[in-house]
Amino acid sequence: MNRKYRKTLIAGNWKMNKTPSETKAFMTELKAMLPKGRWCDIALCVPAVCIPAAVRAMRETRVGIGAENCNANPSGAYTGEISTAMLTDAGCKYVILGHSERRAMGETDEEINAKVKAVLEAGLVPIVCCGETLEQRESGITEEWITMQIKLALAGIPEEKSRKIVIAYEPIWAIGTGKTATPEQAEEVCQLIRVVVRKLFGSKNARATTILYGGSMNEKNAYELLAQPDIDGGLIGGASLVPAKFVKIIEDANQPTA
Ligand code: 13P
Repeated sequence: MNRKYRKTLIAGNWKMNKTPSETKAFMTELKAMLPKGRWCDIALCVPAVCIPAAVRAMRETRVGIGAENCNANPSGAYTGEISTAMLTDAGCKYVILGHSERRAMGETDEEINAKVKAVLEAGLVPIVCCGETLEQRESGITEEWITMQIKLALAGIPEEKSRKIVIAYEPIWAIGTGKTATPEQAEEVCQLIRVVVRKLFGSKNARATTILYGGSMNEKNAYELLAQPDIDGGLIGGASLVPAKFVKIIEDANQPTA
């Protein structure tokens, strides 16, 4: 991380876990444990039906609530979908986009790009995910793959909006597997992402972009990962479902910066 130039963000991705009642209980417990210091931003991206309970519970805190997906269209005949206006009105601040679990369900780079534009237009913060499979890593194409994913997701975004974008590097082989990337592996790709952002939006914007690591990040390995210069936070799945573990990761983000 480098707090001089950019924000540190510890974000949870609950995926398809917890009901609205469980959300309320979790938030009550988390609120009581939240550190007083403000060394990082904190976000919890929760299932759509849990957003109202999460927003209500965290209103007086600095925890921003987010969604895990949205539709790029403003409104209309899209059964089951949720627009950015709905999320904004519900009190959301963040939206995760292009998570590998959604890409596996058929989400395309073009759709992700349209969603990034819609989310920025609505004044929300997109957390744009990218990541390679184990097969891609082993065949040595990680760099090309990540570069392509980032270029496609951010195509046509005006430079002045680029600083609002958070990028999350989530190697697919590390998600939910307990197999974390080493700090060196994660740093290498996060550094590459910053180079891609620099080519797209210039060096000042690249320096100001928050880049997260995700993939089995937990209370045991977070400190070392967050100590890397280009890892500005985490996108945390499993460990964000337990208040004590999530708080420990927030505390691990309180470290001296280069
Ligand atoms: P885990 O932390 O459970 O591996 O999940 C990571 C993730 O996919 C966050 O978006």
